[in-house]
Amino acid sequence: MTGSNDKAVAFEGVGKSYGDFRAVEDLTFAVPKGAIYGFLGPNGAGKTTSLRMMLGMIRPTTGMIEVLGSDSAMGVRERVGYLPEERGLYRRMTPVETIVYLARLKGMDGAAARKRALELLERFGLAAFGNTKIEALSKGMAQKVQILGTIAHGPDLVILDEPFSGLDPVNQQVLEELIADLRAEGRTVLFSTHVMQHAERLCDRLVLIARGRLAFEGTLEAARSLMPRVIRLKTRAPRAALGDLPGVASVALEDEAHGRYEIKLADGAEGEALLRACFERGIALESFDMSEPALHDIFVSLVGDGAREADARTGGKAA
Ligand SMILES: Nc1ncnc2c1ncn2[C@@H]1O[C@H](COP(=O)(O)OP(=O)(O)OP(=O)(O)O)[C@@H](O)[C@H]1O
Ligand SMILES: [Mg+2]
Repeated sequence: MTGSNDKAVAFEGVGKSYGDFRAVEDLTFAVPKGAIYGFLGPNGAGKTTSLRMMLGMIRPTTGMIEVLGSDSAMGVRERVGYLPEERGLYRRMTPVETIVYLARLKGMDGAAARKRALELLERFGLAAFGNTKIEALSKGMAQKVQILGTIAHGPDLVILDEPFSGLDPVNQQVLEELIADLRAEGRTVLFSTHVMQHAERLCDRLVLIARGRLAFEGTLEAARSLMPRVIRLKTRAPRAALGDLPGVASVALEDEAHGRYEIKLADGAEGEALLRACFERGIALESFDMSEPALHDIFVSLVGDGAREADARTGGKAA
């Protein structure tokens, strides 16, 4: 592959086999520079395997990987920050020592690293614990320290494997803000998650993998357009009157007693046009909900079965 300047990471036909088992197969995608990129998929989908290949920790069986224009993450290791899935810090070290240690491993000099550690701990509410041993911190606090150690050296590319897991809601929010700030500074952030809301709020693009294969790659908007648009409404009008409305693909009665319907729109049909048509035809509405499909629903629809199959496959032979 030739060095492409607009991509922070590129995978081309990447696969990883363990014996006969294909953990990752024919994965092709690119992470644009300066983007927040989501890595989604059910348990066992191959997310961590892909991230480890990206970091050069394991070798792909097939395909090519490019990171920051280099064909090896090792060649650009000082420009990359990585939070592994399995957390681990030296228990006898303090947060300040930990962050300084991690930043120095990535080429920062001691004095600058110390200044940066103190700044980060202050900014993320851990200043009072800067000199407390890691073993005396809560799990979530230690994880925050590890995240700060991942970004302390100012990496251009930040790779976080399940960074939100283990954090309370307030700290999840803090981490979302931290990730958004990294993008605002022009850095690229790639993270894996099971929690769709984080991806939904943060990601410019995302890749969805299931059973080691790509199920979707693109923007959130493009993911949404894969799902039929559904309108939920409440009316006393008869079902037939709804079926006649323009752009309606199907009408399902959800709750007869309360006149609740679920309407699937035809491809390209707009909820606003349906609402207007209701008014024009004198169909009185008690409620009308045209909220967009949640990423959660898209995820389940694209990989729902894949998740169960992956579990079955991990335990035995492929179907
Ligand atoms: N060293 C290994 N040897 C054999 N199989 C492996 C190895 N590492 C991973 N696998 C298998 O590869 C598949 C993908 O694992 P991976 O850890 O990448 O999944 P994941 O998407 O990160 O899942 P999770 O959401 O649970 O973290 C799993 O079926 C796993 O059992
Ligand atoms: Mg994983």
